[in-house]
Amino acid sequence: MASRTLLATACLVVLLLLTLGGAPVEARRRPRWPHYREVAPGHGLSTTANAPESSSVDGYAYATTIDVGGFGAAGDGKTDGTAAFQKAWAEACSSANSSAQPAVVLVPAGRSYLLKETSLSGPCKSRVTFRLEGTLVAPEDKSGWGKPGSLPRWIIFRGVDGLIVTGEGAMDGRGASSWKNSCRTNHAMPCTVAPSALTFASCDHLVVDGITLLNAPQIHLWVELCRDVTLSRLTIASPGDSPENDGIHVARSDGVRILGARIGAGDDCLSVATGTANLYAAGIECGPGHGISIGSLGRWNSRAEVSNVTVDGATVSGTMFGARIKTWQGGSGFVRGVRFLNMAMDRVRYPILIDQNYCTRPHPSDTTACDHQESRSSAVEVSNVVFGNIWGTAVARDAIRLHCSEAFPCRDVVLRDVQLRTRKGGEKNAATSSCENALLGESTNVSPPPCSSGRSVHCSV
Ligand SMILES: *[C@@H]1O[C@H](CO)[C@@H](O)[C@H](O)[C@H]1NC(C)=O
Ligand SMILES: *[C@@H]1O[C@H](CO)[C@@H](O)[C@H](O)[C@H]1NC(C)=O
Repeated sequence: MASRTLLATACLVVLLLLTLGGAPVEARRRPRWPHYREVAPGHGLSTTANAPESSSVDGYAYATTIDVGGFGAAGDGKTDGTAAFQKAWAEACSSANSSAQPAVVLVPAGRSYLLKETSLSGPCKSRVTFRLEGTLVAPEDKSGWGKPGSLPRWIIFRGVDGLIVTGEGAMDGRGASSWKNSCRTNHAMPCTVAPSALTFASCDHLVVDGITLLNAPQIHLWVELCRDVTLSRLTIASPGDSPENDGIHVARSDGVRILGARIGAGDDCLSVATGTANLYAAGIECGPGHGISIGSLGRWNSRAEVSNVTVDGATVSGTMFGARIKTWQGGSGFVRGVRFLNMAMDRVRYPILIDQNYCTRPHPSDTTACDHQESRSSAVEVSNVVFGNIWGTAVARDAIRLHCSEAFPCRDVVLRDVQLRTRKGGEKNAATSSCENALLGESTNVSPPPCSSGRSVHCSV
């Protein structure tokens, strides 16, 4: 199965490259991830909702199917199903690995299960597939979640090797009360961390395919300390004004592939945090939200390392940012080998942005916290960044902003085939490009011309 997964992944990548590479510009606007549907089932990654619970699903034999209903989960959306899910998981995770087929935990279609904080841990004896065909809902009230000092999580898979989470089902985090009580919304409230919806920690060879995540209190899908991960055909949706609400968050992970995701969120559609290497994302539809971001990095003078990140094929609509790298003043480490390629920007406030003076107030009432961003003698160094084939409309005039650290100017920033204009158009509203401490490498066929703004300082083109 490992080689099958690999093969499936390779096929997906090739298919995607063909689809994106060969299509004319206009046709490229919508990532075509529904094509995955034709590929995935043959590899056992996806099954139909009413597939028989027999030993053969889509030609792929499963050893054991464990329906959560068999453990007393009511599926009425009201009765707490947490204990039943824990039992079903324990059964699957400890089932014998005689046939080398995964044990399946089935969340049946047409039912809705209320789950509280749920931790599903490995290592497992057998490989496990979590088939989500029905709906999981979180309680409205999440007070008291998470141990003090730890991050609250709704559902976390931990230490499971070769896990597959697949299906047509959905998870609804019911984040509305968390958003309402966020200090970002209500300045009288203290700032706290709201639960993330679905977390994978230390899960190598992970596949997450087809599922829908709705209304997470904070981060929808969090991948941490995982190696070799495929996230495909995901749908993530929450309102554009939900505070600190990210779509996919990847941290300290190596070899994450995101192949097709529709993401609407209040904050970053995709955020790539420290310790991430070799990430590849294609077929991303983002909006509303804050775009696709690397960072933030280097907060509290921390060390951050991000390398070899490629975003290839994305449509970003109605967002605050498009392709962004954000680091705080101070800190150390690097961001290098980043490629933002083939991106359509539609009404994006700042489509291309490197911001090394990133700052958010610890509490929104602390209005001066970010006023005196002193240039520090250290920074997370940014180098070898390509923005290639990026086109569309900006809302702000400054469509390209490369605002780098005085201590360590950005190096080898390449702009190639970038065509951005303002929504209003016309000479008076023509798009501009501003730079600080940016050393550009190649710059070919770029409009607005790089560092054309009168405010550009310490730049070389
Ligand atoms: C299950 O068995 C297969 C071969 O029979 C083996 O490759 C695999 O590593 C085993 N999985 C676990 C979790 O032991
Ligand atoms: C960069 O990451 C991609 C996966 O996105 C991988 O195929 C490639 O080998 C990596 N390159 C280097 C130099 O490690």
